[in-house]
Amino acid sequence: MIAIYPGSFDPITLGHLDIIERGSHLFEQIIVAVLCNPSKQPMFSVETRLAQIQRCTQHLTNVKVDSFMGLTVDYAKQQQATVLLRGLRVLSDFEKELQMAHTNQTLWDGIETVFLATAKEYSFLSSSIVKEIAKFGGNVNHLVPASILDDICLYYR
Ligand code: PNS
Repeated sequence: MIAIYPGSFDPITLGHLDIIERGSHLFEQIIVAVLCNPSKQPMFSVETRLAQIQRCTQHLTNVKVDSFMGLTVDYAKQQQATVLLRGLRVLSDFEKELQMAHTNQTLWDGIETVFLATAKEYSFLSSSIVKEIAKFGGNVNHLVPASILDDICLYYR
């Protein structure tokens, strides 16, 4: 079974990486799919985010990294994936995630959303929190994969 793990990953965090690693034990293949969203002004370009995710998932042989535009279900169909993988951190995630899962199911009933509970130590963590801390010169070593730290330092230098 092929699972898509869609998201913005701007930037990828240790919470995302934990979901990818655990998901890679559950599915034949995981495709980490970075959404190209022209209406958002990201910190890192899609190309940079792809490179960052590739660097920190290279130890996982059944993980592929890609980008897509448009609807996630259309991309899933194109990749012959039948599962959307998402992490759930806290109760406040649930409403948005449930709405997305239901919406996606109305668009294509061949898709199932599978939620993994985020590891306890990352339940507070988001890409926005990382950006907020890094912007003010704080330490994010414990929040993102070591291989992307240089990119973050360079961005705010
Ligand atoms: O990391 P994020 O920003 O929480 O990821 C959200 C994402 C990319 C999974 C979601 O916005 C998405 O699937 N966007 C693609 C457009 C789409 O398919 N919309 C219908 C589902 S609500």
